[in-house]
Parts: sequence; C-alpha cells; structure tokens
Amino acid sequence: MRGPRWGVLTLLGAMSCGSGGAPDINGPASPAPASADTIPLRTLVAQRGRHIGTAGDRGFRYTGSDLTRFRRLLAREFDLVTPENDMKHERIHPARTQYRFEPADSILAFADSAGLRVRGHPLVWHRQLASWLTSGSWTPTEARALLQDHVTTVVGHYRGRLLAWDVVNEALADDGSLRPGLWLDLVGRDYIELAFRAARAADPAVALFYNDYNIEGVNVKSDSAYALLREFRARGVPIDGVGLQAHFVAGGVPATLGQNISRFAALGLKVHITELDIRVPIPATAAMLQTQAQNYRDVVQTCLSYPACEVVSVWGLTDRESWIPSAFPGFGDALLFDASYQPKGAYFGVYDALK
Ligand code: XIL
Repeated sequence: MRGPRWGVLTLLGAMSCGSGGAPDINGPASPAPASADTIPLRTLVAQRGRHIGTAGDRGFRYTGSDLTRFRRLLAREFDLVTPENDMKHERIHPARTQYRFEPADSILAFADSAGLRVRGHPLVWHRQLASWLTSGSWTPTEARALLQDHVTTVVGHYRGRLLAWDVVNEALADDGSLRPGLWLDLVGRDYIELAFRAARAADPAVALFYNDYNIEGVNVKSDSAYALLREFRARGVPIDGVGLQAHFVAGGVPATLGQNISRFAALGLKVHITELDIRVPIPATAAMLQTQAQNYRDVVQTCLSYPACEVVSVWGLTDRESWIPSAFPGFGDALLFDASYQPKGAYFGVYDALK
C-alpha cells in the first residue's frame, strides 16, 4: 500500500508527511486514523476560513467496528457533512401527513458531537419523491400547497442548525431549459421562486442554495443557471449561493471552472462545490489515479482562489460507500479514501492544495 501512496506524493511534490516509525495504517479493524501521519484536512481548511465536507448516510448505518471506523475518519478529516439521502422527500416525508426526521437527526447529533457543520440537501427535486406524491393527482393549487408545506416543515425542523440548504436541486436540463418534472409540471415555473421564499420564511439565517450538475464550467446550462440566479438577485428572491455538484470523470474537470465561479461570485453569491467526486474506469490504472489526484488538487486550488468559494464537499467518505459504481457501471474509485479507508493520491491532492 505504501508504494503507490508515496509515488503520488513524489508526483505531487512538496509533501511533508512523517516517514520512519509511521503507524501501521493498514490494519483492517484498527480504529486508528487512516492518515495519522498527516494534518487533518479540517485543520488545514480552517486556516483558510473554508469548509471541507463529505456526504454520508450509508456509513452511519454500519454497526460495530465498521461504524466506529467510519465516524472516526469522518470526524477527523472533515468539518462538514451532508446527509446523502436522509433528507430527500421519499425519506423525510413518507406519507402526506407524516414526516420522519430521525435518520437525518441522528446525523446532526453526530455532527454536533464532532463539531461539524451540516448542509441540508435537497428540499425540492424531481427525483426520490415519495410515492404518495408521485402517484397522486393534484391540482396546481394543491401542488403549490404541498410544496409550501414540505419546505416550511423541513426547514422549520432544522431552523438555526444548518450552514446551508440546497433549496432547489437540478431544475435545469442540459440545454438550459427548465427540466420537466412533477413540480414544474404541476406548479409551473414559479415553483423555484416559491421554494426559496418558503425556505427563507422558515429559517431567516440559513444560506439558501440552487444546486445542479454540469454547471461547473461555462456552458449553455451554466449560462441558464447564471441568468436565473441573476434575475432572482435583481428581484430580491432570497438566494445566497450556487452549488456546483462536480461529479467529474478523471481528466474531465472543465478548464472554465474558475471563470464560472467568478461570475456567480460577482452576483454576490456564495459558491459551494457540493458533491465532488472524480470517477475513473475500473480497474483503475496508476496513471488514471494520478490524473484523479491532480484533478482533486486543481479543483480545491481553484476554489481557494475565490473568497466566495467557501465549501468543497465530496460525495461520500470512501470508495466503499460511493454511489458511483451503481450509478455509472464500469466506473469507481472516485473518492479520497479507498474501500479499506486508506488515503489515496486523491486525498494527498486535496491535502497539497490546502497546505
Ligand atoms: C445520489 C445518492 O448518492 C445515491 O445514494 C442515491 O441512490 C441517488 O442519489 N445529485 C444529487 C444527489 O443531488 O442527491 C445524488 O445522490 C447524486 C446526484
């Protein structure tokens, strides 16, 4: 395990990890931090006044030593967590008059105990909607009331406790048009604005975000997001930031990421990199993992060069929990830690950028 790791360190240069006498980081059940010879990412990022996050909920359902290991590594390296699924409509609102907050609440309890902030994700999305909602037939007036009730209740439950909410997720198609889906179809284009206004009314302090994928670089879809958010800012619709999901393929980080962050920042918006992962074809080659490590370093470096870019959050703790293999067959190994909880070149890419 040491070989590839130090190989990447050499490649990235300027690393100052401990050498002789380093703890055995390869014991499978060892509760010791996976990267005991480095400074935690959260310590490095605090010095830059930003946050480094990860997503999880599968890991929080491990038991025994697996759970201990998951929680320790997460709390050691990250200062922010996003529930990966537990705040989604189908989970948190399983029946019309029933909300189920316990799973996400337990992540918040962990976050409190470990000194982590939490990003709420997502309030309004076209996917992972409860079947009572998708199978019903609703008038536009009823649909508006359902959206309003959902946002008001969920934001109200977490009032004062979150760093940010992804209020509306993935409202745009790749050609920049509004993406068809239950809320657009039933409520009409006003659903986006309605969601932001309801969220602000339910929590006056939490930062409200529009979140999407394929809007990381300058392209027709991010042009459309930019126009929408500029218009919201001009009209005083409550919005504080844009979330760039950043589900990348190794070698595919857009060259215009910085330029794009810069134009959203110029609207007075915060920018969060919300769901960063960089997938590679599996089995992964050493060359691909080196490209991935450099991509991670570049993304973090780019974010750091804009004060508005206050969060980089990866979409999962380790390659064991990652959504990538099931969502993108043939790809994997997208995160900072491998399935044995060992830090990869990708981790040291982030480390290098933060140092
Ligand atoms: C994904 C989760 O990671 C999976 O566990 C789940 O099965 C599907 O959703 N964009 C988003 C996230 O905003 O909520 C998605 O998360 C990934 C794409």
